[in-house]
Amino acid sequence: MAEITATAPGKIILFGEHAVVYGQPAIAVPLPAVQSRAVVRPGRAGEGLIIVAANLGRTFVVRTDAQPDDPALVVAARLLLTHLRQPVPDLQVVLHSTIPVASGLGSGAAVTTALLRALSVALGQPLDNETLNALVYEVEKLYHGTPSGIDNTVVVYERPVYFVRGQPIETFTVGAPVHLLVADTGLASPTHVAVGDVRRLRDAEPARIDAVLERIGTVARSARSAIERGDTLTLGRLARENQALLRELTVSSEALETLIAAAEGAGALGAKLSGAGRGGNLIAFVRAEAAPAVMAALKSAGAVRVLYTVLT
Ligand code: PMV
Repeated sequence: MAEITATAPGKIILFGEHAVVYGQPAIAVPLPAVQSRAVVRPGRAGEGLIIVAANLGRTFVVRTDAQPDDPALVVAARLLLTHLRQPVPDLQVVLHSTIPVASGLGSGAAVTTALLRALSVALGQPLDNETLNALVYEVEKLYHGTPSGIDNTVVVYERPVYFVRGQPIETFTVGAPVHLLVADTGLASPTHVAVGDVRRLRDAEPARIDAVLERIGTVARSARSAIERGDTLTLGRLARENQALLRELTVSSEALETLIAAAEGAGALGAKLSGAGRGGNLIAFVRAEAAPAVMAALKSAGAVRVLYTVLT
């Protein structure tokens, strides 16, 4: 068997996070500047399936019997073997990822996607995207608890998506290039914690929180048409509006607010957190000519990494 490699990109949510868990639409796009890669090589006879998570400096052995504390990568591999009705093979998979973990860039979904894609090819039964998406979603449940499914969908299909939970995937056109900066607070924020807090808040104050979630849905719908029209000025305004609503859900933080203020102060059209919030990344919509100044402002306000990406 020759060496087999598969990759999967990061993703970024532009509008609609959190509300998407409750059936509102959200918009997300692939972020190919960061990615996960899986390389499968033949293993030694009798050694079984070995997964090397190079970034974590950890090695996992996939056994036939499930253990209660199996990490998600092992669960993912076993799920694939069960789906393909194959025994544990003698293979070694090495995973590398440039996607920071727990920062809203879809690292969990991308690592699982790369792993299952490479492994299914190595086992002679490559998965179609629909099946792969369903398997990655099962694994996402282990990371997130109640994931909407947006991460795995964008990462597996590598397309911008307008996502409504439980509905067929819709993609959309981009009327004019959208220039975006993605800035990292450097603070890890587990998605399931923020999602759980929003759920408790909604349980305590259903009427107020449902109204916020619906307004986020309206913002996401307007954002889709602004992207299709190529209206970046409106996208900036909608980002500010979405951020104000996310604040009401308690998922912003001082670190995010500092960076958002720095971006807007340096000429961004609008900025908002992206993903689960609390820490992780934020996005700033910019005019191309303002990108260098906004990037510099974000860095001097404490962003640990700023990516520049253009949606076309
Ligand atoms: O931070 P991320 O990339 O895991 O995104 C979470 C997005 C949420 O809407 C908060 C949760 C979800 O499952 O959609």
